[in-house]
Order: sequence, then structure tokens, then C-alpha cells
Amino acid sequence: MSMDASQRMRIFSPTDASLAVLVVKDIAQNAGLGKLKDSALTTAVSELTTNVIKYAVHGLMTVQVLHRQQHKGIEVIVEDRGPGIVDLNLAMQDHVSTGGTLGLGLPGTRRMVDEFEIQSTPGSGTRVRIVKWS
Ligand SMILES: Nc1ncnc2c1ncn2[C@@H]1O[C@H](COP(=O)(O)OP(=O)(O)O)[C@@H](O)[C@H]1O
Ligand SMILES: [Mg+2]
Repeated sequence: MSMDASQRMRIFSPTDASLAVLVVKDIAQNAGLGKLKDSALTTAVSELTTNVIKYAVHGLMTVQVLHRQQHKGIEVIVEDRGPGIVDLNLAMQDHVSTGGTLGLGLPGTRRMVDEFEIQSTPGSGTRVRIVKWS
């Protein structure tokens, strides 16, 4: 598997979250992901960047195109040094929220992408890696 150069952006504000979606959409369309997969991926990016702003205040998004034989994958890593998640299994369940919202961002994201990894350490931060393949 080979990789292209990565693109990074800081996530501080709702404007950054919107911009992150546009950046990922552009990269996904150029990679030929197709409308349905591209929408699933950008919805996931919107959920993860919204979580960063809401729970960690700010963070970083890294996007990269992966190549595996004829397939292309868009890898997005969203990470922060916020409070972290005490009970990850709980947070991954539908309708579990400490913020009074729907609690579907993390479990929904997991369902919408091909690869999903989350690491979170209370007191030191959260890192989510997702990949959507063409
Ligand atoms: N980046 C993050 N930092 C700290 N806690 C987080 C982060 N992302 C998610 N969480 C925790 O996981 C819970 C579930 O997240 P999510 O499924 O997106 O639902 P919601 O955002 O509606 O609460 C949140 O309520 C919050 O407690
Ligand atoms: Mg959320």
C-alpha cells in the first residue's frame, strides 16, 4: 500500500469544521470515491470535527489518500488533546451523550466508514482514524 502527501488543518471553530468537510469532499471526489461514499465520509468528518470543538475545544485533522492495488482510500485522522473519554464502550453506543445531543456521532461514524479506530485517554485526548475505500 502506498500513500500520497497528507494535508493537515487545525479545527478550532464551526467554520473550520465546515472547511474540513469541503477539503475532504474535494479530495474524495478527485480520488473518484463516488457521491454516496463521499457523503458518508463527509458526514463522518462533520461528526468528528464537531465533537472536537464541543468536547475538546480544538484539534487537528489530517487527510491522506491511500492506494491499495486499484483502490483508493481516503484516510482521515481527527485528534485532540482534550479531556478524553472515560468509558469508550459506552460512548460508542447509540444515544449515549454527555453533551445533551443525539449521541449518534461516534456509532454513526463507525457504521459509515470501512475502517474505524478510536483511542482515547482521559486527561490526555482522543484520536479517531477512519478510512473510506473507493
Ligand atoms: N473528542 C472528544 N473528546 C472528549 N469526549 C468526546 C469526544 N468525542 C466524543 N466524546 C464523548 O463521547 C460521547 C458520544 O459522542 P457522539 O456519539 O458524537 O454523541 P454526541 O456528540 O451527540 O454527544 C460524547 O457525548 C462525549 O462524552
Ligand atoms: Mg457528536
